[in-house]
Amino acid sequence: MDITLLQAADLLLSSEVIAVPTETVYGLAASLYKPAAIERIFSLKGRPANNPLIIHVADINDIYPFIIKLDPDFLKLAKSFWPGPMTLVLPIIEAKVPSIVRANLTTAAFRIPNHPLAIELLKLTGPLVMPSANLSGKPSATCRKHVETDFGSDFPVLDGGTCTKGLESTILYKDVSVNEIKIIRQGALSKEDIYNALKINAEIVKPQNNEKPICPGQLYRHYAPKAKLVLTTIFPENYQGVLVGYENRAYPKNSIFYCLGDLNKPESISKNLYMILRKLDENNVSEALVDINIPDTGLFATILERLQKASSS
Ligand code: TXA
Ligand code: MG
Repeated sequence: MDITLLQAADLLLSSEVIAVPTETVYGLAASLYKPAAIERIFSLKGRPANNPLIIHVADINDIYPFIIKLDPDFLKLAKSFWPGPMTLVLPIIEAKVPSIVRANLTTAAFRIPNHPLAIELLKLTGPLVMPSANLSGKPSATCRKHVETDFGSDFPVLDGGTCTKGLESTILYKDVSVNEIKIIRQGALSKEDIYNALKINAEIVKPQNNEKPICPGQLYRHYAPKAKLVLTTIFPENYQGVLVGYENRAYPKNSIFYCLGDLNKPESISKNLYMILRKLDENNVSEALVDINIPDTGLFATILERLQKASSS
C-alpha cells in the first residue's frame, strides 16, 4: 500500500513499521525510540535476535550522541562516501542504543542512505533502524512489488522507485588490534572504490567454518530464491533449461535466458541481481544454471559473493 512521506513519518512516530526506499535496497523501518516497533521488525522478518540492525541517520552529526569516538579513518570514509552505500560499525555508549538493536554488542552499525525520500523522512522522524525489507533468507527487495510479495499488498510502503544500486551497503569495521579497516560484509561500495578514493586498503573478511563472524548476519543463509542455483562456467550445447547470464555472451540456443545485465556495466548487473532472483520464483523455476565467469574484483566481487550465498544450502 502506497503511503505519502507525511503518512510515513506519522506511522513511524506512532510505533508502526513501514518500508522505506534507499539507494541500496528497501528497508523495513522503525523508530530507534519505539521498542515495540523494533520487536515487530524481528517477528515480521523472522529474523534471529542475535542479528543486529543498522541505524540510519540524515546527517553525520546525528551519530555523535551515540558513539564513544569516530576514528579518523572512519571520518575520512564518512566524508567521502556518505550519504551512500557504506555502513560503519562504531563503539557506542551502551545506554544510548537499545540492546535489541545491537544484539547486545558494544558496537552499533550506522549509515546515511543516499535517497532523497529516505533523507526527508529521517529529518522528520530522527534515527530509524532498517534491515532489508525481505523475509529473512530471501533476496532483498529492490522495488515496492518485492516488499508487497513478502509482506502483503496492505503493508505500508513509501514508494521511491527501483533502487539504483540494488545491493546492500558495504559494512566496515576497524580492527583496533592492528589498526586496520576491514570489510565485514561486501556491498555496493567496492574495496577498489575505497582504495581509489582514500588509499585505504580494506581487507575483505570472510568468516571461516565454526568461527563467530564479526558481522552476525554472515552466519545465515541469504539472498536465496526457491530455485536451486547451479553456479558454473560450462554450458552444454544441448542445454534447454533456465540459464542466468549476461548480455553479449553466447549461450546454448535452446536455453531459457534470464539476463543479469551488461558485463561492461557491472552497476547494471548489481541493479538487476535480486530482480532476476525473484523473477525465478515468480515463474516457478526450480533450477537454473548461473554464469559465474566474471572477475572477482570491484562490484563483481560482491555479485559473486551474493550468488555464492544464494546458491548454498
Ligand atoms: O544497504 C543496507 O545496508 C540495507 C538498507 C536498508 O540500508 N540494510 C541492510 O540491513 O542490509 P540488514 O539488516 O539486512 O543487514 C545488516 C547487517 C547484518 O548482517 C548485521 O549482522 C550487520 O549489518 N550488523 C548490524 N550491526 C552490527 C554490529 N554492531 N556489528 C557487526 N555487524 C552488524
Ligand atoms: Mg538483509
